Amino acid sequence: MKFIAGNWKMNGSRAALQTMIDALRDVDTKNTVVLCVPYTMLGADAGRAALGAQDVSMHHHGAFTGEVSAEMLRDVNAKYVIVGHSERRQYHGETNDMVREKAAAAIAAGITPIICVGETMDEKQAGKTMAIIESGVRESVPENVDAPIVIAYEPRWAIGAGLTPTADEIAAAHTLIADTLKSMGLAGTPVLYGASVKGNNAAEIMSIPNVDGVLVGGASLKPDDFIPIITSVK
Ligand code: PGA
Repeated sequence: MKFIAGNWKMNGSRAALQTMIDALRDVDTKNTVVLCVPYTMLGADAGRAALGAQDVSMHHHGAFTGEVSAEMLRDVNAKYVIVGHSERRQYHGETNDMVREKAAAAIAAGITPIICVGETMDEKQAGKTMAIIESGVRESVPENVDAPIVIAYEPRWAIGAGLTPTADEIAAAHTLIADTLKSMGLAGTPVLYGASVKGNNAAEIMSIPNVDGVLVGGASLKPDDFIPIITSVK
């Protein structure tokens, strides 16, 4: 069984989400399917999928204009939240320390964080890929986690670019993450791969050791693109 998550980013509408939910109803799969949608689309009856958000405040309540707390996400039945996505790190200056606090806030509210780590092109070219991944996991995962979490490895240079690392590079990254999680007492935590996953590469990517599923951006917006990814693996 694999974990297939869509990240709609700032796209879609409630009508588009309803179209996706209706299309997913008849899909024959045992895989876990999650749609991480803009806040305004949460609260829908997602049928066989679960809904998640794309960010959460590290604060619980109070004078933080524009922010949304984990308790508020739970109030609209969100089951997951992406934290530390590359675009949050790039455009909003989020650091591993901030991501860890957001993940902790989600866990405290009973929401499963999907914690993103990954290297930029500069870091890759400087030979720092493995160091960035390992410090990303060690610093972005809260201490003493006693609830489910999910990790997503997203090479930041490959997101939305139609580029993917080689199978060997993905295997090396995922093995490092699995080993790091094990050393933190978190063996068995699902580790997703994300960045330019499509219907024509999803099965191959999910056959790589320690790849427990995928986090899909652009190809999660339309049923014709997303469903073939979900059904590409048993
Ligand atoms: P992409 O995005 O599939 O469009 O590359 C992935 C992501 O940003 O999560």
